[in-house]
Amino acid sequence: MLAIRDGFIGLVAAAGLGIFVAFQPSPTAAAEQVAARTADSAEISALKALFARPDSIPFPQDNPYSEAKARLGEMLFFDPRLSGSNLLSCGSCHNPSLGWEDGQPTATGQGMQVLARHTPTILNLAWGEVFFWDGRADSLEEQALGPIEAPGEMSQSLESLIPELEAIPGYRTAFERAFPGQGITNETIGAAIATYERTIVSNLTPFDRWVRGDETAISASAQNGFLLFNGKANCTACHSGWNMTDDSFHDIGLASEDPGREEVLGIAELRHAFKTPGLRNIAQRAPYMHDGSIASLREVIDHYADGFIERPTLSEDIKPFEVTDRERDDLVAFLLSLTSADDPVTLPILPN
Ligand code: HEC
Ligand code: HEC
Repeated sequence: MLAIRDGFIGLVAAAGLGIFVAFQPSPTAAAEQVAARTADSAEISALKALFARPDSIPFPQDNPYSEAKARLGEMLFFDPRLSGSNLLSCGSCHNPSLGWEDGQPTATGQGMQVLARHTPTILNLAWGEVFFWDGRADSLEEQALGPIEAPGEMSQSLESLIPELEAIPGYRTAFERAFPGQGITNETIGAAIATYERTIVSNLTPFDRWVRGDETAISASAQNGFLLFNGKANCTACHSGWNMTDDSFHDIGLASEDPGREEVLGIAELRHAFKTPGLRNIAQRAPYMHDGSIASLREVIDHYADGFIERPTLSEDIKPFEVTDRERDDLVAFLLSLTSADDPVTLPILPN
């Protein structure tokens, strides 16, 4: 992990610098044993520590942060000239006003074509390990080139995109500043976009303030929801760590026919398995799931309690649990406490 640069402090200052507690991906046995209403304060403190925010953004050694790269990546992210029609940018689908998603059940690409999967957020992906719902990309650098060329998405070959960008003097200068002597290539385009994406981090939430010790930051209902989330609802079996994902793949019993991870690895047991999404700012990101099939957080809880489809590939961690109406509300109240008031995103002026 690299230290946060000056340019980033604005971004993550509110994110609780100085409350660093080591980032642990999986809950302890204590988490499973805790009973919602009887947990004592030592147990609660131990659970809270599992969700403490990191204090810096990790950048990979082979693509370290620079301000010039991040600014170039931001321009490319919001530039519709990256698409064949010159109408769709990454930001058309990953829209900052909608939690970096598009608010639709599944995405709409080139020529208003409706795609098979829901647009996932790009929030907090600096901590991601594999990308796409089915994990078919190993890095953000690699991932960024996919949608440009995908026929349904932006439908522009990199071969034709590169001369288009080279013809824009402002881009020639920006690439030279970010990647001296390397020119405009697949690699430099991917590295710039990935650097920008890593700077998209959710801010401090009421939940984080509670983790830091402000007992009144979230309601008693949300606090009970947190204990249920760690307890009988078993959510932390998969939604673990500060961003609430294990970056792994599971079949949670949705009706969709999409093969998911099976198609990438050719392993039949992974049929219908999709990547666990992080849960930060989840209230801004309806509808939910890879197929956008669940409209509200309350219905998400109903799905996990007893609404899933039983089949051989269903994850062993998906089991029905007894949960009262009030406890369902508590779980929703907890999920709502994970949303931060992020700074408004300003769009870059694009070079000509
Ligand atoms: C037409 C809408 C659309 C456009 C345009 C688009 N995306 Fe996406 N994006 C999606 C969808 C849908 C997925 C999920 C696809 C899948 O998993 O198979 C996705 C997945 C991703 C992911 C993976 C997220 C994760 O959690 O694994 C990243 C990162 C991403 N897109 C970045 C970009 C970038 C960068 C661009 C521009 C170069 C872009 N997208 C353009 C719709 C779009
Ligand atoms: C077995 C692992 C597992 C367990 C247990 C689990 N989840 Fe999930 N969760 C996932 C996966 C995988 C997805 C994406 C599934 C898909 O789209 O096919 C998901 C999706 C979600 C989403 C939608 C996220 C989005 O961006 O669309 C929410 C909200 C959610 N889970 C909350 C919960 C809650 C609350 C619990 C406990 C009641 C829970 N999950 C239990 C693995 C799990």
